[in-house]
Amino acid sequence: MLKPEIEDGQASLADPQFRADVLAGLERRPRAIPARWFYDRRGSELFEAITDLPEYYPTRTETQILRDHCPDVAKIVGHGRAVVEFGSGSSTKTPVLLRCVSPRAYVPIDISGDFLRDSARALSAGFPDLTVLPFEADFMRPLTLPAEIADMPKLGFFPGSTIGNMIPLMAVDLLRAMRMSLGLGAMLLIGMDRIKDEQTLVRAYDDAAGVTAAFNMNLLDRINRELDGTIPVDAFRHVARWNDDRARIEMHLEAVRDAAFTVDGRPFAIEAGETIHTENSHKYGPRDARILLRSGGWTPIGEWTDPEGKFGLYLAEAQAERPAP
Ligand code: TRP
Repeated sequence: MLKPEIEDGQASLADPQFRADVLAGLERRPRAIPARWFYDRRGSELFEAITDLPEYYPTRTETQILRDHCPDVAKIVGHGRAVVEFGSGSSTKTPVLLRCVSPRAYVPIDISGDFLRDSARALSAGFPDLTVLPFEADFMRPLTLPAEIADMPKLGFFPGSTIGNMIPLMAVDLLRAMRMSLGLGAMLLIGMDRIKDEQTLVRAYDDAAGVTAAFNMNLLDRINRELDGTIPVDAFRHVARWNDDRARIEMHLEAVRDAAFTVDGRPFAIEAGETIHTENSHKYGPRDARILLRSGGWTPIGEWTDPEGKFGLYLAEAQAERPAP
């Protein structure tokens, strides 16, 4: 039978990379789908809601550390640098930093141009005299920054413990790419969530209101909608678990019963108890964080935390290599 026009039309709207990642991810064992596909419109809204949850302490805690210690940061980095943010800078943390380090320019880098321009415009309204240069790029690779800031000393900003969403291999690659992009003498202000008791960690990713569960499950709805899927969403549940060996929270979608479905016409079968791995959030103690930074070519020169030591904010400098010993 011929497929109705509209279905073909809808299927062709899907991002080919999304289709490839989902099909390959469901084929693999263990099954895994890259976390970047969480963020359709609804996913982005749910993520915003996560950052306000009582159990989700990282956003609140990092913002408070920044408020409390920004003068200390400014004392070391000085004024008049170009602040380069890895991510679109839509958070409330960005204005806090900009106010206290009074940069000469601000460069938010993001892969999503629309999102980038919207948040750059919103930020400019609050800082009318600041030169804002939104830069659409994939910051996982070394990049050539806008010529306007070539001669300015630089401060990279990477909040949100986003580095923790990468496995250490990728995290080190990214730190090295940032070092190449920003150049010797640059500084980097980076947030990393700390290792703590398992219950606090798990609850931050499995809240009582079920918002993180909805965020994780939304991926299945997105697959059904954009990739012509027939996944029975009620056959899955959200799971957040602590992997102590790898010091990370993992999010999975676990099948609660055997299920069969198709995605883009391809058949899949999953057994009760099997999971689809969807996200990692690595946690770093202070020493772990310093070693990670050094592995990426960044020398730690300052560090701040909250009164309970839940979250770490680190300042590091790209110094010239000094061969051992
Ligand atoms: N980097 C943050 C963290 O790991 C935010 C984040 C990314 C997140 N993906 C997430 C939070 C998925 C909850 C669920 O905590």
